[in-house]
Amino acid sequence: MTPDAGPATILGVETSCDETAAAVVVGGRSVRSSIVSSQVDLHARFGGVVPEIASRAHVELIGPVVAEALAAASTGLHDLDAIAACRGPGLAGALLVGVSAAKALALVTGLPYVGVNHLEAHLYAAWLEEPDLEPPLAVLLVSGGHTLLVIMEAHGRYRVVGQTVDDAAGEAFDKVARFLGLGYPGGPAIDRLAPDGDPEAIRFPRAMPGEPNFSFSGLKTAVVNHARQHPDTPVADVAASFQAAVVDQLVDKLAAAADGAGAPTLVLGGGVAANSALRARVGTLGAATGRDVFLPAPAFCTDNAAMIAAAAWWRLEAVGPTPLDDGVDPTAGLGVVA
Ligand code: KG4
Ligand code: ZN
Repeated sequence: MTPDAGPATILGVETSCDETAAAVVVGGRSVRSSIVSSQVDLHARFGGVVPEIASRAHVELIGPVVAEALAAASTGLHDLDAIAACRGPGLAGALLVGVSAAKALALVTGLPYVGVNHLEAHLYAAWLEEPDLEPPLAVLLVSGGHTLLVIMEAHGRYRVVGQTVDDAAGEAFDKVARFLGLGYPGGPAIDRLAPDGDPEAIRFPRAMPGEPNFSFSGLKTAVVNHARQHPDTPVADVAASFQAAVVDQLVDKLAAAADGAGAPTLVLGGGVAANSALRARVGTLGAATGRDVFLPAPAFCTDNAAMIAAAAWWRLEAVGPTPLDDGVDPTAGLGVVA
């Protein structure tokens, strides 16, 4: 299904976790502006996102961030065709800020409102830089809250073929980095340190071989046990060996899922898709198996609002606007949009 309504200019809003973001995207692909205000500094001393602090910061930031996105796109509210916001999954109080702001703007302008699923938006980030991408795609969606293997059969049609049975991949990065004293968020910290270490120094477990689902909690425990038993091991070696175990698990299952579905194209999405080792390995996998590979730029892998506006464009055409009495859904699954 291809939207035929022509280019629509959509303001996207994203406040599901600790980034306050707004973006203007035309035709689901062309990014006119993408502003992301990270609250990382507010949460760092707690070692993770504190929901109440996140909600309050969103309230303060949403107005200026939306204004900046419109200004950077040289777009006024009257130039827009729709206003979209992430409705879940995410933190309830945080989601409410973005959804309420988007609905208020829709009300005063009379424009349609579109509620967007955060996971679906991570998939649609791929179209921001690869406008001609065509399903079927095998997508590895790896973030702080989710680890999903998705076969995207068509626009709006997803088959989840694997998911984590415990921690999400990003959660494992964050917990291990915290244990190693590398700070928050942990993924970028481990990514930066790993090249200084030996990824084969310690053979950490690759969980659930031959199965489509993922598990990272045993790996986290193995890292903790190793560090306690061998305190002299260089932290860079632990970080590199941990990262290698995560990447091996992710890439092996992505390869099997793509084989199983006969998907000719591999796509990464979500914050962990910014990881350099993962990106390199997926590139190698594509070259070795004759598959096209698409890796969104790191800024479109981590949370942003351009992906919300992109997904909204497809959803607006396929399903139409979302009623203004639609709420937020903190535990929404992929593609569940009222
Ligand atoms: O998609 P995202 O920005 O937010 C969620 O929807 O969760 O993902 C955030 C997660 C965090 O766990 C963070 O540590 C991880 O993505 N992350 C990374 C990298 N950059 C962000 N993990 C590994 N390597 C990175 N370079
Ligand atoms: Zn996300």
